[in-house]
Amino acid sequence: MKIAVGSDHAGFELKERIGRRLAELGHEVVDCGTHSTESVDYPDFAAAVAREIAAKACERGILVCGTGIGVAMAAGKVPGVRAATVHDRFTAQMSREHNDANVLCLGARVLDPLHAIELAELWITVPFAGGRHERRVRKIDAPAG
Ligand code: RB5
Repeated sequence: MKIAVGSDHAGFELKERIGRRLAELGHEVVDCGTHSTESVDYPDFAAAVAREIAAKACERGILVCGTGIGVAMAAGKVPGVRAATVHDRFTAQMSREHNDANVLCLGARVLDPLHAIELAELWITVPFAGGRHERRVRKIDAPAG
C-alpha cells in the first residue's frame, strides 16, 4: 500500500517510527514532513498528506500531532478525505469498518509510542465493512450545506 505520513514537531518522532515500521512491512511510504522537532504549524502537514489522498497519489495517510485533533480538523477539510482521530484498537477498527477512514490521526502526547505503532499497523489492515455504511459514508463525502 502507498501511505503518506506527516506530522508537526510534536508528532515528528512518532511519525518517523511509524514510517519506518510501515516500510519494514513492505509499504511504500511517502514522507510529507515535518523533518525535525523544530516548531511548525500542523495544518501545513495535514494539508500535504490530505492532498496525496485527494489526488489519489496515496491510498491512505497517517498524521501525528500532539493530540491527533488538529491534524484531523485540518485534513478533514479536504474533499475526499475522511480523517479519524483514534485512541485504541476499537476506535482504529471502527474508523475503517464503519467510516472508511482514509487518514489515521494519532496523538503523540496521548498514546504510548508502541501502542500508537500497533494502532497504525492494525488500521492499515482493516477493510471497510460496506453495506449500510456505504450510504452513510457517501453522505459524509457529499458537499456540506
Ligand atoms: C503543538 O503544540 C500542538 O498544538 C499540536 O501538536 C496539536 O496537538 C494540535 O492539535
